[in-house]
Amino acid sequence: MATGGQHTGLKQLLAKLPNDKPTLVWLADIELFCGLYCHVVEGFLASVKAMPQCIAAMTTRYSDRVATSLRSLADDHINLVASGNKTERMRLCRWFLRGEIDDGSIIEDAAMRTQGKSAAETFAVLADTVNRHKGGMEVEKDNAQLGVVRWEDIGGLDDIIDELKESIVWPILRRDQFRKLGIRPPRGVLLYGPPGTGKTMLAKAAATEVLANFIPIAIPDLIKGEVGESEKALAAVFETAKRGPSIVFLDEIEAIFGSRDQAGEVGKKLISQLFLEMDNIPDDAHLVVLAATNAPHLMDESILRPGRLDKKIHVPRPGYASRRDILGRTTKHLDIDNREELIATLAELEMSGAEIKALVRAACYSAIQRGSKVLTESDFDSAVEATHFQNEFS
Ligand SMILES: Nc1ncnc2c1ncn2[C@@H]1O[C@H](COP(=O)(O)OP(=O)(O)OP(=O)(O)O)[C@@H](O)[C@H]1O
Ligand SMILES: [Mg+2]
Repeated sequence: MATGGQHTGLKQLLAKLPNDKPTLVWLADIELFCGLYCHVVEGFLASVKAMPQCIAAMTTRYSDRVATSLRSLADDHINLVASGNKTERMRLCRWFLRGEIDDGSIIEDAAMRTQGKSAAETFAVLADTVNRHKGGMEVEKDNAQLGVVRWEDIGGLDDIIDELKESIVWPILRRDQFRKLGIRPPRGVLLYGPPGTGKTMLAKAAATEVLANFIPIAIPDLIKGEVGESEKALAAVFETAKRGPSIVFLDEIEAIFGSRDQAGEVGKKLISQLFLEMDNIPDDAHLVVLAATNAPHLMDESILRPGRLDKKIHVPRPGYASRRDILGRTTKHLDIDNREELIATLAELEMSGAEIKALVRAACYSAIQRGSKVLTESDFDSAVEATHFQNEFS
């Protein structure tokens, strides 16, 4: 629905509604029309309601911003919460997986992993569940498209993966053992290191491997909100997270601190809210906060205090052996001429994981341009040139 020329637009729409067919009229983001144009939309809705073959539905993410006059035009109000309770999710998972998987424990796992997730994320998890049980090459491709990351996709960070398993995965999966031994796992973990070294990827892999809610929060998006709104959103996230085993992932967390001057109030209030939420996590909650930053110097010491992000893990730029490993893993689905030798040479280049990914992608483009399915040294030569790595590779 466009916000310009509402009168004419809606009148034209009314005239176009068929008389002879059942019709659903859907008004999305209705709160946007609750200022100046409220009466126009009200008039339109009243006309639609008067047409027996039509039914109108309105959607909003901010029910408190919808004018009472508009609300009262709706006969029903449905509050859609993120993927409902466990029984509802089990029902949804069973329906989605029908004909593919009927093993109750797998369906239950899927239901657990979809807690607190949006519909889109839920379907990604379920599609991944189906893929995991299909096996084979096709699965690899599907996973890449879905953005599903596994430990084995990550190169050169074995020690870090082990540390993450100990501090995030075990406390969730082996909670009883921890409790028996009286060990208090870290409440928060900070991954820090240069850009493109795999921090976000590590968080996604932890989420895939652990059967818990993964609740990612992009801090830059959160601080764009208005004062009051961002804290509400953060409080809601922690409320959901406390209900089950969860990893709350705060990516680019430096944005809160870095933004203190520009975003002013929002950033400051968000920090207090975050501290409050972290300090109030009950001891028996299955909740770990994972944060990532490539600008640790911008962060305030107070967030690193015990009980907050009290474990710090450095994710460094990869050395030769790690680059070789990353190259091997990022090209495993590709046909490459003289693979081993070529990878050994390419690994000489000083590249981050993200730069390696860009290089491989550029080499694929070069092969596509040649009309070949097999990548050769010349494709990587052009890729190196295209991606401007200064090196003696030739
Ligand atoms: N260790 C790695 N193994 C395999 N691929 C990697 C690795 N590191 C980075 N990549 C590739 O680079 C992409 C970007 O990495 P990622 O987003 O995880 O970096 P980051 O450390 O979070 O960077 P930033 O600090 O800029 O957020 C990944 O999606 C992946 O394709
Ligand atoms: Mg990142």
